[in-house]
Amino acid sequence: MKKWIVRLGLVPLLLLPLLATAESPRQLVFSHVVGPDTPKGKMATMFQSIVEQKLGDRYQVVVHPNSTLMNDVEVIDAVAAGEVHFAAPSLSKFAGYTSRLKLFSLPFLFPDMAAVDRFQQSEAGRGLLTSMQDSNILGLGYLHNGLKQLTADRPFREPQDLAGLRFRIMDSPVLRAQFQQIGAEPVPLAFADVYDALASGMIQGQENTWSNIYSKNFQHHQPYLMESNHGVLDYLLITNNAFWQGLPEEDRRLLSYAMDIALRYGNSVATAKSRNDHQDLKRMREVTVYRPSEAELDTWRRAMQPVWAEFEEAIGRHLIDAALAASK
Ligand code: LMR
Repeated sequence: MKKWIVRLGLVPLLLLPLLATAESPRQLVFSHVVGPDTPKGKMATMFQSIVEQKLGDRYQVVVHPNSTLMNDVEVIDAVAAGEVHFAAPSLSKFAGYTSRLKLFSLPFLFPDMAAVDRFQQSEAGRGLLTSMQDSNILGLGYLHNGLKQLTADRPFREPQDLAGLRFRIMDSPVLRAQFQQIGAEPVPLAFADVYDALASGMIQGQENTWSNIYSKNFQHHQPYLMESNHGVLDYLLITNNAFWQGLPEEDRRLLSYAMDIALRYGNSVATAKSRNDHQDLKRMREVTVYRPSEAELDTWRRAMQPVWAEFEEAIGRHLIDAALAASK
């Protein structure tokens, strides 16, 4: 049995039905890597409280935030293996399971979150929810966080200003290629390790959403931020397919209902947090938030664009076209 299961006294979820009694609601584990006061954190807590209201006699959702249980690479494996019930890793972190989701990591694919939302709700977008069923992973829905911004420990305006700097990335071949295109050195790191890596100077920059930057205080060591909006950081809410299909039909219906409400709530939190955390960062005296002109953004777009051709075949041209159609 894996070390983290033993450490926390958890039991693999496939064994849980054998242990549940009329008196003990079945525990459903939801593991994630961000703080409770983030779109994902609030979504998970909302899911937990609706399940408690509607199904409290039969199920209890246990949320592990802030990577306290495991990181995102580990949690995807754990969901596939049937050891964790729910997780919502960034769409950039599934490269080990499917190439199609690499779509979401392409730089400058979506102009804004409305376009992201239109694509996710389209037939092509919904089709991706089942893209990992062969590995026993089922997508239950998308959750927004927002568009990514570039940050560094020194001023920058143009792609060449970042040349030679070490940039933290989520573990994704597309993001690796994106930073290589501009001459920076990509460094894959788990989210939990980013703050310390910035503080120690091991890395000099990173990309993330307003809410992730603000909630983890990355600005303490990254006083230069650019409103680059150059990519999206959204989540796929996943479960173990065999677990999900094995639930009694009425329980699955009620859990889906709870999930839908929680996702809608999480998406509205994402919109509000993106705006508020952006404003709060702009107000901080020690932080410089630079807004590039359209011409400057175009330079960034052209510098990163070759990444599209590199991954087009793996992703599928039809998916890129569907995303572009949703962006019009
Ligand atoms: C990251 O690793 O930067 C993000 O995926 C963290 C998160 O879950 O928002």
